[in-house]
Amino acid sequence: MRRKVTIIGAGNVGASCALRIADKGLADVTLIDIIEGVPQGKALDILEACPVQGTDVRVVGTNDYEETANSDIVVMTAGFPRKPGMSRDDLLLKNASIVQSCIASAARYSPNAILIIVSNPLDAMCHVALETSGFSRNRVIGMAGVLDTARFRTFLAEAAGVSASNVVAMVLGGHGDTMVPLVRYTSVSGIPIGQILTQEQIAGIVQRTRDGGAEIVGHLKTGSAYYAPSSSVVEMVESILRDQRKVLPCAARLEGEYGRKGIFVGVPCKLGAGGLEHIYEVELDNSERAALEASADAVKELVDVLGRNGY
Ligand code: APR
Repeated sequence: MRRKVTIIGAGNVGASCALRIADKGLADVTLIDIIEGVPQGKALDILEACPVQGTDVRVVGTNDYEETANSDIVVMTAGFPRKPGMSRDDLLLKNASIVQSCIASAARYSPNAILIIVSNPLDAMCHVALETSGFSRNRVIGMAGVLDTARFRTFLAEAAGVSASNVVAMVLGGHGDTMVPLVRYTSVSGIPIGQILTQEQIAGIVQRTRDGGAEIVGHLKTGSAYYAPSSSVVEMVESILRDQRKVLPCAARLEGEYGRKGIFVGVPCKLGAGGLEHIYEVELDNSERAALEASADAVKELVDVLGRNGY
């Protein structure tokens, strides 16, 4: 049977996700947006590329949630992106209301879907999506760690002069200034990164990774990144649809793991047909644990603000 992925938001991230899914022939795609014409036009454009790409999927654009019915996966990208000088947290209340209304509609038509959240501030928006949908935590997963890790791997590979595909790394924590690149677990084909790069080089790359989103916003000026974010989303979509069971850093609701409860934060997750199938608790030293705690505390502050505003 054909699989179906709905993408909410036909902007930069959403349309790029649709294109990548169609290019890979992974699933039929429904692209939905509040603006009339944009999802229809972009979906048709992507569909018309399929004969050239050699794929055979259905791509439709709509403004009506009825067309999203019975999706296997719903990717939530609608919302405002950052502008220069803004932090992801500045988007909190505006995007919370968008996430709440979109997820309520999508969950009604696709009660068995797995939700992948992309709208920022990511970890807080995952919280809104879980509360709104009432879905269990294995079906509400946030995309941030795959992107942050891809940025980290890119910069490390560049500095080491090696293939980025040989760089194995994991960035945990919230999707923001407090993210936690795990240097101790980072290697080039198993060779610890500390044997290849100096501590100064690594520290510089950790900081550049933390600022990776802002670096792109600084260049673009009118919006935020979308090529690497959409690649990251599609890696998660593929792992679920093909039951690949990849272990990827994703925002997941902790229920006691890492000593926290009821908070979304980036941790190593196994993604398969059931969505989030397992959270790995890696051994952390004191400073790594403190950094992850600080990151979880920063997410909790945002969730508390949401709570005070009726979310
Ligand atoms: N319902 C459906 N679509 C909506 C709604 C809504 N209530 N509100 C806004 N949108 C749509 C907009 O019409 C627009 O097409 O969401 C889309 C957002 O697209 P962009 O402005 O291009 O933003 P993008 O770069 O795709 O980022 C979207 O992902 O990475 C995050 O921080 C980023 O929160 C932002 C989100």
